Amino acid sequence: MREDIKEILLTEEQLAQKISELGNDISRDYAGRDLVLIGVLKGSVMFMSDLLKKITIPCSMDFMAVSSYGNSTTSSGIVRILKDLDFEIEGKDVLVVEDIIDSGVTLAYLVEYLNARKANSLEIACLLDKPERRKSNIRAKYIGFTVPDEFLVGFGLDYAEKYRNLPYIGILKEEIYR
Ligand code: IMP
Ligand code: MG
Repeated sequence: MREDIKEILLTEEQLAQKISELGNDISRDYAGRDLVLIGVLKGSVMFMSDLLKKITIPCSMDFMAVSSYGNSTTSSGIVRILKDLDFEIEGKDVLVVEDIIDSGVTLAYLVEYLNARKANSLEIACLLDKPERRKSNIRAKYIGFTVPDEFLVGFGLDYAEKYRNLPYIGILKEEIYR
C-alpha cells in the first residue's frame, strides 16, 4: 500500500496530538451539557474513536451512513441516507463528526436533515478541511487540519474502499485514480 502513496501529509503523531487538543476543547465547551457525537460512516470511524477517548465529560455516540461519492473522487452532489440515527436527538447538543469537508455537499445536506430533529445545538467537528473545493457555506466549529486540494487516503479515508487502515494521512498517487 505504501507504494501507492506519494507523500505522508500527516503522521500518526501529528494526528494523535491534534485529536487530543480537540478532545480538550470539546470537553471544556460542552461541560454540563447533553453531548452526543454523531459519526458519519465510514470515513470518520478512526477519528471518532480516538476523539471519544480524549473527551473527559459524559457523552453518547451514534452513527449515520450516507453516500455521495460512489467510487469516484469527486462529489456527485447526490446524498443518500444508508443508515439513520438509532436515537432521538431532540434537546441534545449534537456534534457531527466527519473525516473531511471537501465540497461540503454531504454535510450541508446532513445538517439540514438533522436540524429538523430539534437538537438543542448542532455543530461539526472535522479532522480535515479542504476549503478550496467548497460549494456550500458549511462551517465546522472544530477543525483538525486545513489540507491542500489533493486526494487523501488513510486514517479512515478511502479510495474505492481501500487504504482506510493506514495509520497516517497520505496523498494518493495520481496514477492510482486517474
Ligand atoms: P463533500 O460532500 O464533497 O464535502 O465530501 C465529503 C466526503 O467525501 C467525505 O466524508 C469523504 O468520504 C469524501 N472525500 C472528500 N475528499 C476526500 C479525499 O481527499 N479522500 C477521500 N475521501 C474524500
Ligand atoms: Mg466519507
